[in-house]
Amino acid sequence: MQPILEIRGLTKTYKGGFTALRGVDLSINKGEIFALLGPNGAGKTTLIGAVCGLVRPTSGTIHAFGEDMGKHWRRLRARVGLVPQELATDMFEPVLRSVNHSRGLFGLAPNPALIEEILRALSLWEKRDAQIRTLSGGMKRRVLIAKALAHEPELLFLDEPTAGVDVELRRDMWKQIALLRERGTTVILTTHYIEEAEEMADRVGVIRGGEILMVDEKAAMMERLGRTEALITLASPLTELPEALSAYPVSLIEDGRVLCYRGGGGEGSSSGTAEVAELTKALTRAGIDYTAIDIHESSLEDIFVNLLEGPEMQGAVA
Ligand SMILES: Nc1ncnc2c1ncn2[C@@H]1O[C@H](COP(=O)(O)OP(=O)(O)OP(=O)(O)O)[C@@H](O)[C@H]1O
Ligand SMILES: [Mg+2]
Repeated sequence: MQPILEIRGLTKTYKGGFTALRGVDLSINKGEIFALLGPNGAGKTTLIGAVCGLVRPTSGTIHAFGEDMGKHWRRLRARVGLVPQELATDMFEPVLRSVNHSRGLFGLAPNPALIEEILRALSLWEKRDAQIRTLSGGMKRRVLIAKALAHEPELLFLDEPTAGVDVELRRDMWKQIALLRERGTTVILTTHYIEEAEEMADRVGVIRGGEILMVDEKAAMMERLGRTEALITLASPLTELPEALSAYPVSLIEDGRVLCYRGGGGEGSSSGTAEVAELTKALTRAGIDYTAIDIHESSLEDIFVNLLEGPEMQGAVA
């Protein structure tokens, strides 16, 4: 299937000479939720800005819906929604008028029923006549989301949609985004809350220093790069590792009282939990008693941190 968005060789050097994007290639499939993860200054907002016409690319191409955005910008941009990271909006406007205005900007006929539905879903209907500046930070962010949804975009960018939003509201927003996906909207979001990517995304891309380090299905990424750690508390301490355990990735810690296993992950390797099960059998066979096992699977967060810490990953493109 043709991707809904295809970015090739995208480079951005800002005036003053700073290069924020270095030859980014990225394909987004129709209907997916794609999470772009990266530290501050990685180039996430610049990348989104290039697609949404806020940043002029230095080189490279962007095709959306199968057409060149550079050539058919106005027509294609109307099919793209953006929830910006920054809260720059018409602060003195009442909520309802501002959201209606966003729809009108793209030349669409008014649709009061749709706007009401959007505002109700975001718990903003009661506040529809309030000036945006009088709302709390989290509510302002929801107004930005309502504005981006008002023109029924097929491709929606959410640049840190839940930054500064409390946990409960964040979960509400996730539900909203899941609903959009059910309706066929393609969603690209950036986030610093890796839990958010873990919860929502079909695929994850990691960006650092203007380069995409890796793109993969979330589940595959977690399986391939995930690790299992097991801490096995021994009934009596060991002074050295017995020969029977030499085949396992284990070490003794806490003065020989705890056996630490770190394994799993990596292409083609057996799963960590299965290996821990084998390990416990080997312990029993060797006559080593244990009193507790604490097993932990790495999260997307662990993977992400490891990826960013590993300098050897720099420049490696998936
Ligand atoms: N208008 C600009 N002029 C010059 N440099 C810029 C401009 N906008 C962004 N940059 C630089 O480009 C780099 C990437 O910025 P960008 O905002 O895309 O990062 P980001 O990944 O969105 O970061 P964050 O997670 O903090 O939002 C940064 O080093 C930033 O200082
Ligand atoms: Mg940003």
